[in-house]
Amino acid sequence: MKTKEYQLNLDFFDNKQEDTQKTIFSLANGHFGVEAINPINESINYGTNVNGYFDTGEITYGEKAFGYASEHQTIVNIPSLRTIYIQSLNGTTFDKSMLKERTLDMKTGILTEKFVLENSSGETIQMEVTSFVGQSLKNWYGIEYSFAAGTYVDDIYITKNIIFNRDIKQVETDDPRKQSLVQKVTVIGEQEQDSYSCVIKTQNTNLSLPILLKSADEINLSNYKVSLKKMSKVGYIFGIGDIQENVKNPFLQIPNLDEIKADSISFWKNTWENSALSIDDSPKLNKASLYNMFQLFQSAGRDGKTSLSAKGLSGTGYEGHYFWDTEMYGIPYFAHTSPGIARNLLIYRFNCLDQSRKRASELGVDKGALFAWRTINGLEASAYYPAGTAQYHIDADIAFAVDYYYKATKDNEFIEKYGMELILETARFWKGFGDYNTVDGQRQFEFHTVTGPDEYTALVDNNYYTNRMAKYNLSLVKKYADILKKNNSNKTKELKLTDEEIIDLDQTVKDVYLPYNTDKGIYAQDDSFLQKPVWPFDKTPKENYPLLLHYHPLTIYRYQVAKQADTLLAEYLFAGETPVDQLEREYDYYDKVTTHDSSLSKSIYGIIAARLNRTDETYNAFKDSVLMDLENSHGNTDDGLHVANLAGSWLSIVAGFAGMSLCDDYLSFEYHLPKQFSKLKFRMLYLNNLLEISLSQNSITISLIKGTGFKTKISDTIYELNSENKKITQVVTK
Ligand code: BGC
Repeated sequence: MKTKEYQLNLDFFDNKQEDTQKTIFSLANGHFGVEAINPINESINYGTNVNGYFDTGEITYGEKAFGYASEHQTIVNIPSLRTIYIQSLNGTTFDKSMLKERTLDMKTGILTEKFVLENSSGETIQMEVTSFVGQSLKNWYGIEYSFAAGTYVDDIYITKNIIFNRDIKQVETDDPRKQSLVQKVTVIGEQEQDSYSCVIKTQNTNLSLPILLKSADEINLSNYKVSLKKMSKVGYIFGIGDIQENVKNPFLQIPNLDEIKADSISFWKNTWENSALSIDDSPKLNKASLYNMFQLFQSAGRDGKTSLSAKGLSGTGYEGHYFWDTEMYGIPYFAHTSPGIARNLLIYRFNCLDQSRKRASELGVDKGALFAWRTINGLEASAYYPAGTAQYHIDADIAFAVDYYYKATKDNEFIEKYGMELILETARFWKGFGDYNTVDGQRQFEFHTVTGPDEYTALVDNNYYTNRMAKYNLSLVKKYADILKKNNSNKTKELKLTDEEIIDLDQTVKDVYLPYNTDKGIYAQDDSFLQKPVWPFDKTPKENYPLLLHYHPLTIYRYQVAKQADTLLAEYLFAGETPVDQLEREYDYYDKVTTHDSSLSKSIYGIIAARLNRTDETYNAFKDSVLMDLENSHGNTDDGLHVANLAGSWLSIVAGFAGMSLCDDYLSFEYHLPKQFSKLKFRMLYLNNLLEISLSQNSITISLIKGTGFKTKISDTIYELNSENKKITQVVTK
């Protein structure tokens, strides 16, 4: 493993804005995240985000209707663990900081920063900060500060604490992507000389979170004297306990700083072993790709009780909610890099089934489950149903992800315990929510009043993506019933799935209608999209993007304009089903009416461009996607990372350049390396095998690094890799 590629430092950035950098250099472990907040900012009462630690509040509607979401859910802001107070002998505070160096070592998970601090008399000292989070030691965070004299050479006094000092308040914002509610918690704390422990409790959800701060060297937490005559180092350990209803002995064993550090180092060593990636020709894009992967690993919940929020644990944008982003972008990534995480993300959905069954019934469907569009606790939290509940494609997204995970792992136990029920309950919802309609003598199954992935088009009939995904979801019932039967399982009986229901659902699969426009020779995004006037792009000034911040939804909905990949997203998922000439037409058509205002869009366009061997478009879309947060190109990285896109940039390489797709019995590749790269290499997991895929300008090589073997298809040829035949190279003719 080369070292430099794994180090992200300040040289990478043209714009070193503090608010963006706090997100970018955040550290996390799926349980909690610590934003890289300026450590000497006293008034900071945010900066630590605990996955799934949230409170609720009533949503006040001017005009409420039946079945509207009733409560907000919002992640709780916990003060930064990085803050430190430093005073000089005469009591003046070092309250100005200048960041000089910052290096995130992605190989070890250790963040090192150098600051020059200044007091009101203009005197300076130097401070180096080293911080890291435990990974298997998931409740722990360590931070060390070293001080050295600058123009100030006397003793300093340092204080480390954690103070909750805020009231509940509504934050004024017109941007739906920002957190709009800051909550109050009650704190019961116990202060000792060298430690402080407290339990914080949310007001409405009644969730307790134990927090511990302990000096690593048993020194006083307040006013500890540090002599600058010698370089002095002090360390602190934070415990962020599990979220619970009743706290009993939250921290039984407290690790020391070295143990937390070693745990971080060993986690990253193992993680990269299965997922290393290198792109020759562009150290910048190489580093950005590794960074995106690093942040994905940090962001995802790993306990089956939490998921992957739209911003990970790097910020509070979108209130810490989980969306379909997890299933359609996150799951394919984790299925091939850390399948245990993918499994637990799906178990989180399984744990939401009861609420989702109730939700389906609120929507008039008595059999099946409807998952919440945005949520933390499984209940719908979206107050705007046209771009919330109406995106019921989330059901099929979850079923698709179950199937994806199974194809990548053949985890039969998962299907038995969780997967089949998820597939069946979502399929039942489709059956109950759709309608038969007869058009030109043809009976077809349709979905009316629906919003697809494109949030600039709402409440239309027969969104192509939704119908295509529902069709697939319905088809999975028979597939998995057969698999369970083969495994001699009783599961289908337990789920009261009869042969008649299987036959009925399977007939519906054949009847689902897919809108197609004969004149244009393309799938229509929905029944009305292509009839609307095209958005006046030539009259739209640059500063009016994203459109959602400048136009009323009803203005946007009346035009042909898409926020993100919609029809093309379905095309990406069902690779090879649409003839290439049609795909060309669809790409050209939808590209012209898509603003890519959503960060979920560019990567998908890039993958389709790759399939069409449009090398410049592939390369440019990849660059936009892979650098999105590092260059803050959407202007809101300060609210948190665009996590779906992080996975999208990985998919651009794996599903785009290498054309990887999962089939039932083999892993398929198609060579599409853009001419801008001469060599690219990545590792991935498939059926418990570790593979390395290398692409050069004229060949593709698949190697079996670990494992007993698997079948793979390159272009049209199927190969078998095993202990005797560990490598296959196919020369590419262009
Ligand atoms: C996108 C959604 C996405 C959400 C969270 C929105 O801007 O349109 O598709 O789920 O962001 O990332």
